[in-house]
Parts: sequence; structure tokens; C-alpha cells
Amino acid sequence: MIILGIDVGGTGIKGALVDVETGILTSNRRRIPTPSPATPEAVAETIQKLKQHFKWEGTVGCGFPTPLKHGKCLTGGNLHEDWKDLKVDEFFQQKTGNKYTIVNDADAAGLAEVTFGAGKGVKGTVILITLGTGIGSALFLDGKLLPNTEFGHVLHKNGAIFEKYAADSVRVEENLSRKQWGKRLHKYFKHINLILSPDLIIIGGGSSKKFNKFEAQINIDTEIIPAKAENDAGIIGAALAAK
Ligand code: BGC
Repeated sequence: MIILGIDVGGTGIKGALVDVETGILTSNRRRIPTPSPATPEAVAETIQKLKQHFKWEGTVGCGFPTPLKHGKCLTGGNLHEDWKDLKVDEFFQQKTGNKYTIVNDADAAGLAEVTFGAGKGVKGTVILITLGTGIGSALFLDGKLLPNTEFGHVLHKNGAIFEKYAADSVRVEENLSRKQWGKRLHKYFKHINLILSPDLIIIGGGSSKKFNKFEAQINIDTEIIPAKAENDAGIIGAALAAK
């Protein structure tokens, strides 16, 4: 079965057709920069362009980069405040005519990795952390997802969240070397390791491709590995969620 998977990110909106039985992309991947400002109307237009590019009339699985509850945005996150309280699935359906399953972007990446990738068959607690514009999380116990965790929002200091200290976008903004950034990640993962005692940590998002450039800085007693599908995990998992 083929489904169009779309991964809405803070900087890029990516889509591809996915074989949801194998997790393999059956088309090229298409990336369109996230509109700025990323208002609901502007993002829906980008989704429409992807739909037209793939000539797709079927169901769409969409990973979305904000806290969600039953497809409804709880905050606009790194997109735009107008998303707050919007039912994203209904909104995209109204704008494009397709049916949508909306899932948090990190949950999507986690679903792909636990089903086909780095977390396949792993028992116990597996956590996937995406490092991109924000920090997203997906938590699994024996392969089953506990959705909508927001471990990028654990407090760092003075009421500030870790996302604002250790996301990949912060590395770029503050012009940090990967070594300096890796030291921040070490603090973050040490804390995550302490509060969750996971059996495996998987790194997803754009940074998963560069894992070898910062892994030496993270010294914790839990195995930590990059997502097998790297940044495509979000697209694959979004499609999988709509299966
Ligand atoms: C959002 C998460 C999202 C993460 C990665 C965070 O700012 O709160 O829901 O998963 O960014 O996009």
C-alpha cells in the first residue's frame, strides 16, 4: 500500500510516496522551504503544491511540528501562533480535498524507526529525539508509542527549555562548533537518561546525518544511535500513521 507522507518542519516541508509495508520511498523526495510566516493558509498552500507534484488524491499522513491532541494544535510552536486550537486534519482536508492523519513529527520519525529502523525489535523503553529547528521526542515501550511527549520542553535553567539551548537551530544561530554544541547535547541527554532510564536513544531530524560529528561529546551509559532512515524517518512514519 502506498501513502503520501509529508513532514512539516520549521524550515522545510518534505514529502514522498511511501510503501507502508516496507517503509521504502517509492518516489523522489520533494522539499519546499517552509513559508515565512508559516501561517495556516501559507502552509496549506505548500501542502497543496506537494499534493499536485505527486498527483495524489488518496489519504495523506502528515507529521506536524507542534504539541498536538487528537489532531488539534495546542500551540503554534515554531510555526505561527494562528495554528493554536486548529484541527489540522480538518483544515488541510478543507483546503486540498484529501483525507489527513496528523501525527506529531517526532512521533512519526519514531514510528518509522521502531517499525523498520534503528529501534526495530528493541524491547523496553526506546526514545527518539529529533534535533532540528526544535527538539521533538517519541517514547516507546516494547514498540508501542506513548504519543505527544514533549521532552524538548524539559526545563534547562531559569525557566528556559532545553530546546532553546540545544536545538540544531541554536547551534546555527549562535555559530557553535559541533564540539561546543555536542557539550550542550551531553547535558541534555544526561538529563533525559536520568529521568527516563531508556534502553536505547535514537537521534532523528536533520542532525542524524551528522551524528559522527558530535557523538563523541555525549557520554552516557545508554546506547545512542542515529535514525536508520535519517531525516526521511519523518516522512515514512507520517505515511505509516495513516495506514
Ligand atoms: C515542538 C514539538 C516538535 C519539535 C520538533 C517542538 O518545538 O513542541 O512538538 O516535535 O519541536 O519539530
